[in-house]
Amino acid sequence: MNCQRKKFNLSKKYAYLNCAYMAPLLKKVEKAGMAGIKAKRQPYKVTGEDFFKDVEILRILFSDLINNPEPNRVVMVPSVSYGIGNVVNNIALTKGENVVLTEGQFPSNVYPWKHHCEKNGGELMLVAAPDTEDQRGSKWNENILAAINNRTRAVSLGHVHWADGTLFHLKAIREKCNKVGAALIIDGTQSIGAYPFDIQEIKPDALIVAGYKWLLGPYTSGFAYFGERFDQGEPIEHNWINRLHSEDFANLVNYQDAYQDGASRYGMGQQSNFIANPMLITAIKQLRSWGVENIQNYCADLIEPTLAEVRDLGLYVEDKDARGAHLFGIKFPQEKMDKLANTLKTHRVSVSVRGEFIRVAPHVYNDDRDMRKLVKALKEAL
Ligand SMILES: Cc1ncc(COP(=O)(O)O)c(C=O)c1O
Repeated sequence: MNCQRKKFNLSKKYAYLNCAYMAPLLKKVEKAGMAGIKAKRQPYKVTGEDFFKDVEILRILFSDLINNPEPNRVVMVPSVSYGIGNVVNNIALTKGENVVLTEGQFPSNVYPWKHHCEKNGGELMLVAAPDTEDQRGSKWNENILAAINNRTRAVSLGHVHWADGTLFHLKAIREKCNKVGAALIIDGTQSIGAYPFDIQEIKPDALIVAGYKWLLGPYTSGFAYFGERFDQGEPIEHNWINRLHSEDFANLVNYQDAYQDGASRYGMGQQSNFIANPMLITAIKQLRSWGVENIQNYCADLIEPTLAEVRDLGLYVEDKDARGAHLFGIKFPQEKMDKLANTLKTHRVSVSVRGEFIRVAPHVYNDDRDMRKLVKALKEAL
């Protein structure tokens, strides 16, 4: 694949290596958004069917991306915290039982569990990254497996760690969860769309993904997949559109106890967003046409020569097979972080500082020039 920068409105002056922060909009996604805004000029053209049509398309497109044969298990969510809220609401936890997370993971996948544990007397087990640079990733994975025990009710983590890109071995974690009867919950926000994922292989109980990063969509639109474990669960929100026959607008006050099919009960209110949904549809279609594996390979080809140079500077980056190529951390001396912030600014390089790591998150709009600018800024700050 060639560099796809032309499809975006990114300025050449900036090296935007920060998709993990927020994706830039594709030109055609912008266009879809503008069309959605314009359509609101004439609401008399919006039909009852329009409330459902784009959501159904999105369920199918997202399912395609994760190899999910049951699109009705996918619902729209406004945020990861909302999706995790629905998960937590349906995971029974009693005193002495525990939930396993990775230390330093994104707060939207921590606070709901923390609250749940505090309320029910459960234990929140945060598995820390090992204090080593020698096979750090595989040791971290071993420690996660070791932390899961007969009292574990749920394991909730990313496919890659959001701060440094460490890859978690979801298949092995799933097997251990099966042995002890624990639910496996995945926050795919920093991987789905850029790192291959197969729901039939991993079989998570739930997968939650924010749409504004690697799905290249707008803010406040994301997806949640719920497996069978949640089929009879109770949603955190009771909205009209998730109830049976909600498409029959004339009879909405014929209140229904039953829900629409699949995991529909967990979908957000106002999921029919007439501006955001066409944008997300356009973005995912583009991802599908590029191919997630090709995106990951593009990033790998782009970064590998640079990473050799970064290591030559004495900086630590996780081994290739223990992290993603679209998201990785460069460990930088804490006392030089302020200086680095300045050199990054001078060279107009956008990355994020997350803990002791500089998080670098390239995409198909980045090229070698961007990587050279990053190395220059690192060198100058050392
Ligand atoms: C791993 C991960 N999950 C979730 C989010 C966003 O969470 P929310 O949708 O609750 O704002 C982020 C944002 O950086 C993230 O990195």
